[in-house]
Amino acid sequence: MSVFGGDPASTEIDSDDIAVSGVDARSVSGGASRSGPSDGAGSHQATRGAEARRRPSHCAPPMPARISAVEQRVLDDPRLLGEIAEVIGGPFHVLLPSRVSVNVKGFQAVFRDAGVDGFVYFGKKANKAACVVRACAEAGAGVDVASVGELVAALAQGVRGADVMVTGPAKSEELLWLAARHGGSIAIDALDELERLVALGLPARVLLRVLPAGSTSRFGLDPGELDRAIGAISYPITLSGFSFHLSGYDAVARAEQAAALVEHCLRARANGHASDTISIGGGFGVDYVAADRWETFRNTLSDNWFHSSPPGDYYPYHFPAPGPEMLGEILAHNDLAGLLRTNGIRLAIEPGRALLDQAGSSIFRVQGVKTRTAHGNPYDILTVDGTSLSLSEQWFDSEFLPDPVLWPPGPGHPTPTCVGATTCLESDLLSRRRIPLPRRARVGDLLVYPNTAGYQMDSNESPFHELPLPPKVALHPEPDRVRWTLDATAR
Ligand SMILES: Cc1ncc(COP(=O)(O)O)c(C=O)c1O
Repeated sequence: MSVFGGDPASTEIDSDDIAVSGVDARSVSGGASRSGPSDGAGSHQATRGAEARRRPSHCAPPMPARISAVEQRVLDDPRLLGEIAEVIGGPFHVLLPSRVSVNVKGFQAVFRDAGVDGFVYFGKKANKAACVVRACAEAGAGVDVASVGELVAALAQGVRGADVMVTGPAKSEELLWLAARHGGSIAIDALDELERLVALGLPARVLLRVLPAGSTSRFGLDPGELDRAIGAISYPITLSGFSFHLSGYDAVARAEQAAALVEHCLRARANGHASDTISIGGGFGVDYVAADRWETFRNTLSDNWFHSSPPGDYYPYHFPAPGPEMLGEILAHNDLAGLLRTNGIRLAIEPGRALLDQAGSSIFRVQGVKTRTAHGNPYDILTVDGTSLSLSEQWFDSEFLPDPVLWPPGPGHPTPTCVGATTCLESDLLSRRRIPLPRRARVGDLLVYPNTAGYQMDSNESPFHELPLPPKVALHPEPDRVRWTLDATAR
């Protein structure tokens, strides 16, 4: 019995559930691999069926994140996360630059296997960490930037100017000038932007961003504008080619739009332009959770699971052909690879999220634990340090679904738990849904949100309440230990 807070056992899922839910809870901290134990073996299906029957109706099903071997090593280390937390004294993000490098090489291997001249630009908007860009530079990738700040940060980490792709609408004069000076590629989004670049009088390499047929996007040039732009380009500006970026994650749409860009290149060549590159932007999916978890979530989704109003929409957290596999599908569709080879065209891609898959986590410290009831059922509300601005999905009327891992592991019973942050805003919740944490959380525990490097950790952060921004820590796995350093953004 706790002195102040009633019976700590009161929020636990009853003892019948312990054995069943305990399997799921252990698979979070026990090493669900990519193709891992949760991918549909019959006994697991049966276990999940039993779990669903016994889980209280006010608690969401477990959604363990896919955890890489290195991430598991970090979670299993009895000291590492605790020591970092003690030194930092607040929430922090960890990044694994070695994983970024693996992800870059995965895309490069697909290009190589398909015999395609391809180049990877990291969509820098997805994460601000310096160690990510450094890993890209070292792995032979460039960076896609959309502001002077991003361009300067990329150059500072060793990305060569020639390996920078500048995207984004209505770029500032300063950005155009700096990009031209450094010999980067500039994706032109509008005629007036092109005019401003021409007026600088500097040599520059440009791609023309195409508004796909039938699209109502605010980005890109329509067919009439494209013709005028091509006509307006002459020495010292070089027309390197054409680009697009699509929302969503459809491989076929990208392959077909890429084929249309090849046609644009050929027409431009007929008018004397070099036009040997197309960029198909980003939008390579990430596979956060196993297929059956995602199906269970979608098929049994209930308003009762949520502490407050349920989200309107969800990112597709299970993605069957993620990252490099999706690139393979794009290249295979209607033999896009052959079309590129035949016409001597280089294919650029600008993945953001996919290069950060399993490359970072966000770590918060539990500062408070309260018990509440929903429909007569008890559950815990945690308050962690930091804010949900470090988990961007929460700010798009959505929910980040991979379950947080309670650290350190320890004995206990599955406990429905939602997670609030430390501000005065009612809506400031890192997890609105009640998650079956494997035990009751205590003040001082850490809550590790896995796989947050892609857009989650720092897209929306602000020093609200004058709370410090969570610093970034780079983890360096070595044979005998995992070393950690402060990221250059935190020094
Ligand atoms: C032009 C452009 N390229 C690349 C990206 C990166 O997309 P993703 O992180 O989905 O790969 C974006 C994202 O908005 C973009 O606008």
